[in-house]
Parts: sequence; structure tokens; C-alpha cells
Amino acid sequence: MCGIVGYLGGTKDPKEVIINGLKKLEYRGYDSAGVAIWNGKNFQRIRAAGKLKELEKQTTDLSFQGVVGIGHTRWATHGAPSERNAHPHQSGDITLVHNGIIENYLEIKEFLKSQEVYPSSDTDSELVAHLIRLQLQKTPHFLQAVREVRPLLKGAFALLVVCDRFPDEMIALKEGPPLVVGLGTNENFVASDVQALLSHTQRFVFLEDQEMAHLKGTHIDFYNSEGQKQTPVVQTLNWSPDLVEKQGFPHFMLKEIHEQPRAVAAAIEPHIHLETLSVKLKNVNFSHQTPRLHSTDKTDQTTEELFHDIERVFIVACGTSFYAAQVAKYYIEQIAKLPVETDIASEFRYRHPVVPPKSLFLVISQSGETADTLAALRLAKQLGATTMSLCNVKNSSIDREAHGHLYMNSGPEIGVASTKAFVSSLAVLNLFALALAKAKGVLSQSQEQEHVQALLSAPSQMEVVLAYDKYFNEAAHRLKLFKGFLFMGRGVSYPIAMEGALKLKELAYLHAEGYASGEMKHGPLALIDERIVVVMIAPQDEVYEKSISNLEEARARGGKVWLLTNGEASPFKTTTEAFLHLPKAHWAITPLLSVVPLQLLAYHLACALDHDVDQPRNLAKSVTVE
Ligand code: AGP
Repeated sequence: MCGIVGYLGGTKDPKEVIINGLKKLEYRGYDSAGVAIWNGKNFQRIRAAGKLKELEKQTTDLSFQGVVGIGHTRWATHGAPSERNAHPHQSGDITLVHNGIIENYLEIKEFLKSQEVYPSSDTDSELVAHLIRLQLQKTPHFLQAVREVRPLLKGAFALLVVCDRFPDEMIALKEGPPLVVGLGTNENFVASDVQALLSHTQRFVFLEDQEMAHLKGTHIDFYNSEGQKQTPVVQTLNWSPDLVEKQGFPHFMLKEIHEQPRAVAAAIEPHIHLETLSVKLKNVNFSHQTPRLHSTDKTDQTTEELFHDIERVFIVACGTSFYAAQVAKYYIEQIAKLPVETDIASEFRYRHPVVPPKSLFLVISQSGETADTLAALRLAKQLGATTMSLCNVKNSSIDREAHGHLYMNSGPEIGVASTKAFVSSLAVLNLFALALAKAKGVLSQSQEQEHVQALLSAPSQMEVVLAYDKYFNEAAHRLKLFKGFLFMGRGVSYPIAMEGALKLKELAYLHAEGYASGEMKHGPLALIDERIVVVMIAPQDEVYEKSISNLEEARARGGKVWLLTNGEASPFKTTTEAFLHLPKAHWAITPLLSVVPLQLLAYHLACALDHDVDQPRNLAKSVTVE
């Protein structure tokens, strides 16, 4: 999940425009960066590994005659962070920057090999530059060559392309990750989001999926998904300070929903070693008061040594954090083969729990101040358990009192309805399960690399799903008329069903229930008629067929079925009220993807009902009393 900036036209220094723009996008990725700026002969490329300041050092003394250039700040998904893998990527006289994932990159690499074209980097992005160069040899029209390459690509990509033969042109293409065109006076800009451009203009065209923009001199043509020229919808963002705080979003919650890809990237980045695609939990810092799990009294045991002796895991939390705990149960039992007990904190503290020796007790709390969760942590410590916390707020009460520490690292979450902290929790809990499995010796290197690669791809896949924001903005007005909502899921999607129901309750104040799909015949089926919306979360996993038969049960009784799946569309487009397609993803990543439409559904329904989205009635962001 990376940051892109482009500049064409005017009288500004392209190096300044691009570098300063990239600084505003550094939160999108910061393991390497680069620029390519016209110098009168060609697009001169400078790249640097590390943070943007490394690139700045290399460009300080450079000046360029041209007024066109592109730049990129990277968060690696394919290929370790290095100068060699940094963008922009070049092939002959083609130079481009890319945000997203080219899923069929191996197929493309094979094709290029057959053309005796051998990439110089490990990235999927470079392959696109080669394809465009080869296409341009057949179609000597820059825009047409790019347009003809697009269908060859599968996945999610925002591209910005320039060519030495056409130095006063730039082509922008969006398919998934965001791309916005900034309209200046005799100059134009392109970026991953408006943050990078607000100091130059307040007039923007937000490209939709499969749309292109062709900048030529000071003119721009916009093309729709069929390649026909279209009149752009120009939006003027005259933001008040309040809106700047919300970065242009009407509510903190919507801003935080859109921050989720970056939040997940920030949550996992400290614990992943990119070169080896391996996991090593950082900053857990078990305190010296941590109970010894084995007889030999070691002065300091590493996290791995402590994890090695664990025989059972308890995870306790409240509300949305409890649903993260339930997802973690699937992660840990399937990956680390350890038994897991999950409990709502207010139940744990009064049920006279038994916590056997060699138990690891994890509490999850965004605020780190939830009274019941803090009390459960204190009880677990009294019972002799080794404790850990997963919090978003550092130095909160729960963070301070646990023996070991994990962090959501999501930045402040203002909206009462938790969103980015939840998905960051899932990502960290996935890493936690992997670390436990490694310490127990039950995870092969290839399994570890598979999981880490899946996590690295999650932010880009989440950006694709965020496109449903527009969809629910319209759908909410017809949904608000329904009597109730039933969210159904199996396996790791079951806690997501529960979370989707909670979001709807706390924001739209509508009746909603989350259920395990296999429970339909044990009661919920009686609820279903044409006044009930049934949201079926059914990724193509090992229980997919069973979920689809549950969907048919609901449909047969008149339920209005909304299906979320990454499976085949055809059988369901006509038989369901709505069919929401999700990107294909690793089973452990699907919860991070399937929860996003549910958050958007609840958010837009609350807006349609004119509720206070950021401060829903009767609720507080942190429940510091019982
Ligand atoms: C979630 O949207 C709610 N705000 C609520 O359920 C929340 O998750 C719960 O109160 C726990 O809060 P915590 O994560 O800060 O402990």
C-alpha cells in the first residue's frame, strides 16, 4: 500500500511538488522512495531505500529543466525494501509508479521471458513497464498502448505512466487503490489522495475503477471504463479546520474506516522481516514480575522461551474487542495447535474461572481502560497466569498492568464504533498465532512465509473493498426500511457476523443479530421473512458449500439475502438481493476484508437515519465503569 504523486504543466519545481507531496503520503508506506523527473532528454530516476529523507538527501543538489515528473513512497508487498525494488520502475523509455498488487505477475513474468525480457527487480510493478514498452512497439500511440495492456493485468493497481517519447504526457489508471487528479491553473497533479495536493489546489476528480486520465500539456482527457471520453465530475474541497482534522471525511468513523489499510500496515510492520518473510514479535518486553512457567529460575526468558512452555491460551475482552478474541481462537487453534478459551470480561471475572498453570492470558482493549477487562486482567494475575495485553493506547491502565505487550498501532481512534483498531487487532493476533506456533515448533518456514505474504497483501486488498463506500451510500436508503438484520457466518466468519450485527446495533439502533450459519435450523430460521435482511458472509473456505446451503434456506423463506463472498458470482447475481464480491485472500485474511462492507453498511444506514455517527446514543468510547 504505497503513495503516488505526479505533476505536469506549470511553473513549479516538480522535485519540490513531488517530494513534498510524498511527505504527506509517507503514512502509506515508508520503506523506500523514488522520483523520475524530465531533464530535457529523458525521465531521470533517483531512488533510495529507507525513509523519504534518504531520497531527499540524494536529490537536494539536483535541478531539473522539465516541469513533469512522478514519485512514489513504497510499502513492500513483492520484493524486499531496497533501492533496486523502489519505484519508479523503467523499461526502455517507459517509466511508471504503481500502488497495489498484480496477482498474475508470475504469468506475466513467464510471458516476458518468452520475449527475452528479464526484470531487474523482484517487483510485480516493473513487469507492467515492460508490457507497456512492448505494446508501444506495436501501437505507437501512448494512451492506446497503456489501454491495451490494462486487460492483461489481474489484481488491484493504481498506475501513473510517463514516456521519454511523449514528455508532455502522463497517463493515470485506477483499478482498486485510490487515485485522484488535482486540477490547477495551467498545471495538473495526480496523487493517491488529496492530502498530497491540498497546498496546490482544491479542485479534484476522483477516478473510479477502470477509469483513466490522459494529461497532455495543460489539458486533461478523462475516459470511462469502456474507454469513451467523459466529462469529469469536479469536486471542490474547501475544507474547514474541522474537516481538515477529519481529512475531508464527514465523520471520524468514515475516516477511520478508510484508514484501515494503513492501520494494518502500521500494526504488522514492526514484527515482519521482509527479506525472509518471517515473524518476530517486537517490544513485547515481558516484565521481570512475569511468573516463571518452568522450574529453572532464569533471570530473563525470551518471548520465544516463554511461549514455548505455554499449554493453553485465554483471551478476554469486551464488545468488538471480544469478537477479535474469537477470531484469534480460530487463528491460534488452527496455526499453533493450542487450546484457546475466550471470554467476555464481565463474565470471566465472576464465573470463578479455572486458569491452569502454563496458561497465557491475553486481554484485548483498544482504549486500555475498559473496567471489566482491567478487572479480568487483575484476576488472572492473582490466579498466577502470565498475562499480555493488546492495546491501541500505550501506557493505558491495561497496557501498564499486563506482563507482556502488543499494540494495535492504529493511531487515535475517535469514532465510538471501533473499526481500524479491530482490523489491526486481527492482523496482530494473526502474527501472535504465528509466533506461538514457531515457539512450539509446529510452523514450517513455508507456512510462515505464506501467512506473512498474505498479511503483506492485506492492505491493498482492503483498499479494493473500500470501494463499497459509494455502493452503501446509495443502498442504505432502501435498507433502512427493513425490520431486522441477521448476520450469518461460519468458522472464522462467525465472529465477523457478530461484529457486523454489533456495528448495526450501536450505529443505526436497529435490531440485528449475529449467528453461526449452522444454527439457522435451531431457531433463527423462524425469524426470516421478507422484512428481514440476511447478510451471509461466505468466503470460499472449507465450509463454503455449507454456507451456501444456509443461504438457500433463508432465501426459500423469503429472506432478503445479501451475500459477501470471494466465490463465483454467476449462481448468485440473480438469486440474492445483493452480491458483494471480495478479493480472493488467504483464509486468515478474509475476516479483515469481509468486515469492511459491514462497517460501511452500518455507517451509511446510521447516516440515512440521521444519527450521530461518531457519538451514538447511550454509548461511550471507553467504558471505564462496570
Ligand atoms: C465497539 O464498536 C464498541 N465501541 C465497544 O463494543 C468496544 O469495542 C468495547 O467497549 C471494548 O472497548 P475496548 O476495546 O476499548 O476495551
